[in-house]
Amino acid sequence: MTTRLNPEVAASVEARLRYYRDLGVHDLYRRGEPVADSDIVEVAAEPQAAEPAQPYVAIPVTESESSDLSSRAARSAAPRDIPRAQALQLLREEIGDCTRCPLAFQGRHNIVFGDGDPHTRLMFVGEGPGADEDAHGLPFVGRAGQLLNNMINAMGLQREQVYIANIVKCRPPQNRTPEPEEASTCSTFLFRQIEIIQPEVIVALGSTAATYLLDPKSKSSLASLRGRIHMAHNSKLIVTYHPAYLLRDPRQKKEAWIDLQIAMRELGLKPAKPAGD
Ligand code: URA
Repeated sequence: MTTRLNPEVAASVEARLRYYRDLGVHDLYRRGEPVADSDIVEVAAEPQAAEPAQPYVAIPVTESESSDLSSRAARSAAPRDIPRAQALQLLREEIGDCTRCPLAFQGRHNIVFGDGDPHTRLMFVGEGPGADEDAHGLPFVGRAGQLLNNMINAMGLQREQVYIANIVKCRPPQNRTPEPEEASTCSTFLFRQIEIIQPEVIVALGSTAATYLLDPKSKSSLASLRGRIHMAHNSKLIVTYHPAYLLRDPRQKKEAWIDLQIAMRELGLKPAKPAGD
């Protein structure tokens, strides 16, 4: 059957579908809402290769459903009984114009504290700011950030509904991996952010995030840490590829999508419903 949409809607639907296909999601169903006649133009369907069925397929959730990503009553008590946003602000003030590790003296422009909803149930942790993040003072705003936004959208969420932070808050020169001293010094502040936010699920993006969130002494490979739920910092922790790695090797997006579906399942985010259900 041919679907007809107006060109603007069609372009945005096509971009979204292309992204899902990149992730290896081919079985998409739509909710039963009618399409207005005024929305109608022809869109040619692309041929699709046969793929194994996906157990969970992301569909955008409605506002009332997605607000469920904000904290549940059972996890609502922030440390020291002060509002989480305020607790985070106090922590940011405590960090100040930090000189606790060598990264303070290696060309840093901005400390990248973290960004997002302090009441979220889902947190993403990366490695450390790159040039764009250093310039803007916000995590994941460059190319890797665009991909992370797409990954979050594919989960049926908006970036503003999650919290994003890094193992280190200052840019390592030439985007090198943070040294153990830098990561261990700085991650104590990340752990306090986690304590304040109390996310149910943390997604560790890449092996630096996984290592410092799980066990800095461990030599476990990313591959061996993926595909299961770890407990860390009072949260369920899921390990996946770093978006910068996915930009270099887009074939792994399917694997990342499998990891994100573990997070979705733990958060009760909606799996796809067959058409007509
Ligand atoms: N890579 C990261 O690990 N973190 C960022 O904030 C940006 C890129």
